[in-house]
Amino acid sequence: MNYQGLYQKSITDPESFWKEQAERLAWYKQPSTILGVDKYDYPQWFQDGKLNVSYLCIDKHIEDGFGNQNAIIYDSPVTNTKEHITFYKLHEEVSKLADGLQTLGLKKGDTCIIYMPMIPQALYAMLACARLGVVHSVVFGGFAPHELAIRINDCKPKAIITASSGIEIQRIIPYKPYVDEAIALANHKPEHVIVFDRNLGVDIPYQSYDVDYTELVSKSVAIEPVAVTSNHPLYILYTSGTTGKPKGIIRDSGGYATALKFSMKHVYGVEEGDVYWAASDVGWVVGHSYIVYGPLLNRNTTVLFEGKPIKTPDASTFWRVISEHKVKVMFTAPTAIRAIKKEDPNGEFIKVYDLSSLKYQFLAGERCDAATLSWTKQHLKVPVIDHWWQTESGWPMLANMVGVELMEVKPGSASMPVCGYDIQILNEEGIAVKAGVEGYVTVKLPLPPGCLLNLWGNPERFKSGYLSKFPGFYFSGDGGYKDEDGYVFITGRVDDIINVAGHRLSTAEMEEVVASHKAVAECAVFGVHCDLKGQKPLGLVVLKTGENHDESLISKEVIKDVRHEIGAVASLKDVLVVKRLPKTRSGKILRKLLRNISDELEYNVPSTIDDATIISEIESVYKSNQIGIHKNIINHE
Ligand code: COA
Ligand code: AMP
Repeated sequence: MNYQGLYQKSITDPESFWKEQAERLAWYKQPSTILGVDKYDYPQWFQDGKLNVSYLCIDKHIEDGFGNQNAIIYDSPVTNTKEHITFYKLHEEVSKLADGLQTLGLKKGDTCIIYMPMIPQALYAMLACARLGVVHSVVFGGFAPHELAIRINDCKPKAIITASSGIEIQRIIPYKPYVDEAIALANHKPEHVIVFDRNLGVDIPYQSYDVDYTELVSKSVAIEPVAVTSNHPLYILYTSGTTGKPKGIIRDSGGYATALKFSMKHVYGVEEGDVYWAASDVGWVVGHSYIVYGPLLNRNTTVLFEGKPIKTPDASTFWRVISEHKVKVMFTAPTAIRAIKKEDPNGEFIKVYDLSSLKYQFLAGERCDAATLSWTKQHLKVPVIDHWWQTESGWPMLANMVGVELMEVKPGSASMPVCGYDIQILNEEGIAVKAGVEGYVTVKLPLPPGCLLNLWGNPERFKSGYLSKFPGFYFSGDGGYKDEDGYVFITGRVDDIINVAGHRLSTAEMEEVVASHKAVAECAVFGVHCDLKGQKPLGLVVLKTGENHDESLISKEVIKDVRHEIGAVASLKDVLVVKRLPKTRSGKILRKLLRNISDELEYNVPSTIDDATIISEIESVYKSNQIGIHKNIINHE
């Protein structure tokens, strides 16, 4: 069946479409109800089915005779390590760790935070939790202890699994001390911290709640998976919202497993046994879906890469990994390609490697600019597929479904809706707009299996953030338009979320930290264009009057505060002092205007502006700090 045929089937008869896909999984109990609703009247998939995702990712493949196949290839240029982990070995590690967790008192329904670098033990930890029905919440290593503490208070983990340290370019990340600091800050106190010592010569500060990971596993035995219902949460993954408080996306088990298995074949075009590589981090949704669960559910070998596209050791790393491990499909963010292109503009490193195994290069996580797309295609000589999704969806919403039919690639578009997603572009009144007209990108309910179940502990925020703006539709938070052929072009977030190097960050959260500096009267943080990272945050601060300020010192302190409170990943490196901020007469800061001035976009000065003379002040601050190039065309409304 071609794309159109399959897509139409998924929209006109979703129940039979997804029933058929669910049958590809080895459920303990096949679901008889395919699509129901929860107490909030929100769609739920496969409610009475029973399964275990860890079983499907590991045991099932061993039962089918593939125990000796590599499940994971761990490639770590930062520690000069390579390890091939078979399904047998994965089974041993995961089932023993699950036993260890059980001995410590963790059971189905408990929560457990995983704060780990890109090492196999991070995957073992996720799968061990899944084996017990323990709900894991992986926190990205680039977040500081304060952020970790917020997540500890929200999901109240019984245990935290961590490692002694991680490695960033030129520095060691002290994971265990960060965990201790976070626990000291948090109101909720986990009972245990299970620490994997990487033996990298780092001191591990001891606390009474510590348990040694290796010792725990060595004393344990392999245990069987615990059956859970389809809607049992597999994990909580925190993502940035428009307030200072991150939101915990709840993922189910059965719908997610069904969707991921479907996507491996139909979106990414990989078959069982193929090598698949998503160069992301387990702390992000890409890591959850396409480093861990998707490939393992589909019996692919997944590459676990602990490194960066550049400097580990150079811009050839990606190509070495593809060629050495015979990667068939690779997935990364456009920013990674831009970083490589900057170091190796003519793709000289690419020519050195045999990339004949590579069939498709997928890109996502941020808008893909046409130059990056065309450079990648020219040098890799394979179809380069931009696709669009988000933490909430858990798997692609727009893509060129190459496993079904490779369609025309249109630069700037993430292609067509993926099966199950009835994507509609709506105007402010909730009416679908014509082709070529920009609007809000929404999905008509029901969302297909695999998407968020709700927000952890906050069903009200779930409803107000996603479902209330357009009743009957899920609102993605992105703007975009469709062309005459139905290709969708995502133009960017319509809220205060920014995307820095493929990382989704909340400017509201940064503003909270900036505003708390004792010298700051008011501030605005917003995203501006960055050639490498797509966007980067820029902070403008107005200082309290009547005090003698050292402006440069205050900027440095504010930057340090954000790094300390949110983490290095926030990437706030520019904070400028201004006399005033442009506001509407009702006092709302005109952040979009501030961004447009810096990004050289044509902009309108809103008629509601309180005082238009501020614009020239802002422009001159930008100019003297080399922010933007200032060829703006100014229209006055
Ligand atoms: N643990 C601790 N710190 C981390 C971290 C982690 N797991 N990941 C990133 N950081 C730190 C970085 O070291 C950097 O610190 P610095 O300001 O001291 O240099 C900071 O957070 C910002 O990181 P990043 O935005 O990633 O910038 P970078 O300059 O280190 O690297 C790229 C730039 C483009 C090479 C890098 O962003 C990249 O590889 N991106 C690929 C895209 C990707 O994986 N996206 C995930 C979603 S698909
Ligand atoms: P995250 O939840 O961290 O995966 O971030 C999701 C957000 O990243 C989306 O809402 C988009 O704003 C952006 N995004 C992801 N993929 C793309 C893409 N292919 N094109 C444009 N924006 C994207």
